[in-house]
Amino acid sequence: MSRPQAPRGTRDLLPAARAGFGHLESVARDLTARYGYQPIETPLFEQAEVFERGVGAVTDVVEKELFRVQAGRGDTERERWALRPEPTAGIVRAYVQHGMQTLPQPVKLTLTGPMFRYDRPQAGRYRQFWQFDVEAIGDAGPAIDAEIIELATRFYAEAGLTGVELRLNSIGDRACRPTYIEALRAYFTPLADDLPELERTRLATSPLRLLDSKDAQMQPLIAAAPIITDHLCDACAMHFAGLRRHLDAVGVAYRLEPRLVRGLDYYTRTTFEFYPPERDGQQDALGGGGRYDGLVELLGGKPTPGIGFGLGLDRVLLALERQGTPPIEAPRVAVVVVGADPADTVTRFRLATRLRAGGIAARAELGERKLGRQLEGAARDGAHLAVICGSELDDGQVQLRDLEAGTQRLVALDDLVREVERTQRQHRHGPDAQ
Ligand code: HAM
Repeated sequence: MSRPQAPRGTRDLLPAARAGFGHLESVARDLTARYGYQPIETPLFEQAEVFERGVGAVTDVVEKELFRVQAGRGDTERERWALRPEPTAGIVRAYVQHGMQTLPQPVKLTLTGPMFRYDRPQAGRYRQFWQFDVEAIGDAGPAIDAEIIELATRFYAEAGLTGVELRLNSIGDRACRPTYIEALRAYFTPLADDLPELERTRLATSPLRLLDSKDAQMQPLIAAAPIITDHLCDACAMHFAGLRRHLDAVGVAYRLEPRLVRGLDYYTRTTFEFYPPERDGQQDALGGGGRYDGLVELLGGKPTPGIGFGLGLDRVLLALERQGTPPIEAPRVAVVVVGADPADTVTRFRLATRLRAGGIAARAELGERKLGRQLEGAARDGAHLAVICGSELDDGQVQLRDLEAGTQRLVALDDLVREVERTQRQHRHGPDAQ
C-alpha cells in the first residue's frame, strides 16, 4: 500500500511550526483579555444554511469553496452540514440561539481555530487554515469599529510583524448601496460584451464583486468605475468620518481604498484589510473584517449591529518568516533524571514524577542506557540540569549537575524540588536571585 499523505492543501503542524502558532495564540489570548473579549467555541461544522444565508449563497466561499459534510450511512438526521469556512456566521448563530441579545451589549467574543475552504492550494492559501477572530455584537459604532481595528494592528505589532498596511473603506448600507450598485451597473453594462465570461455573470448577479476581479483585463475598467464613497448616504458618510476621527486620535495609519468590497455578502459600512509590505495578491491578505449590521437578523435574531475581523495566522507566520524573524522554539524540558544503574528505571521514573508534581518540567531517562549515554541525551535535549541517581541514594541524596556550567553538588531528596527551582531562578535572573 502506498503511504498515506495529509490531504492536499492541509499541513501537519510539526512541533516547530506548532510552537509558532502557539505563540500567536498566546498573543491573541493576552490581547483580547486586555480589551475585554471573551473566548467562545462553536462547532467546526454547522448546518450549511448558516453559511448560505450568512456569508451569502453567491459568494466564492459558499458557491465554490464550501466543504460539505456527509454523515455515515446510518445517518437519520439527513441535515445538510458544512465545515466552517469562517467563524462569524457560526458565532452570530450562537448569539441568536443563546439569547445573547439580553446580555449587556456589545457582546465581545473571540475565537481562534481552524477554518476550511476548498480552494486551489498555493503558498499562503490552504484548505485548512487558522484564524484569530474577534467580534463585537450589539454596538452600531463608529468608535467600536476603531477599537476593533486598533486591536488588530496591535496584534500584528505584538506578534513582531512590522510594516503591515491597513486598507479601509465604507461600502454603505441598505439605504445607499442600491444606488451605488445601479451606478456600477450603468457603467459596466455598455462594456458587457468585452467582459470575461465570469465577470459578465457577476454583472448580472452581484455587480459589487466586479471590483474584486483579479483579471488583468478588468483592472483599467475597475480603475475608472464609479466609487462607493462618492455615493454614501449622510448616515454612512458620518459613520465613516467618525471612524477615521477615532483612528486618527490613536495614531492608527490607514490607506483609503474605495474599491475594497471584500468577498463575503454580510458586510455593511466599514470594511478593512491588512497587507504585508510590498505584497498585493489575494492570497497575501493577512486579515480582514468589517461591519455586518444585517447578519443577526438574517440568522433569525432581532436587528442588531456587529463588527469583527479574522486574521489568517498561517499568513502571519509566513510574513514573519519572510521578514527574517527567527522562529519561536518549541519549549524544552529543563531537567533530565539520569542514573548510574541503567536497569533502575523505577527510581528515575519516581524522581521525575516527584519533580513534575512539584511543577517542574522534567524528563526521566527511561531507556536502559549507560550513564554517559544518558547524559549525552540530556545535553542533546538542551536540558539545563541533570539529576543523577547513584550510590548517594542510600543516604537520601542525589547529584544535581548544571550541564552548562559543568558543576555538580549533592542535594537531599527532600529538598530536590526547592533546589531545582532555586537553580533555575538563578539561571534565569543571575546569581543574586533568591
Ligand atoms: P476573510 O477575508 O474571508 O474574512 O478571511 C480572513 C483572513 O483569513 C484572510 O485575510 C486570510 O488572512 C485568511 N484566509 C482566508 N482564506 C485562507 C486560506 N484559504 N488559506 C489561508 N488563509 C486564509 C473572514 O473570514 C471574515 N469572517 C472576517 C470577519 C470577522 N468579518 C467580520 N468578522
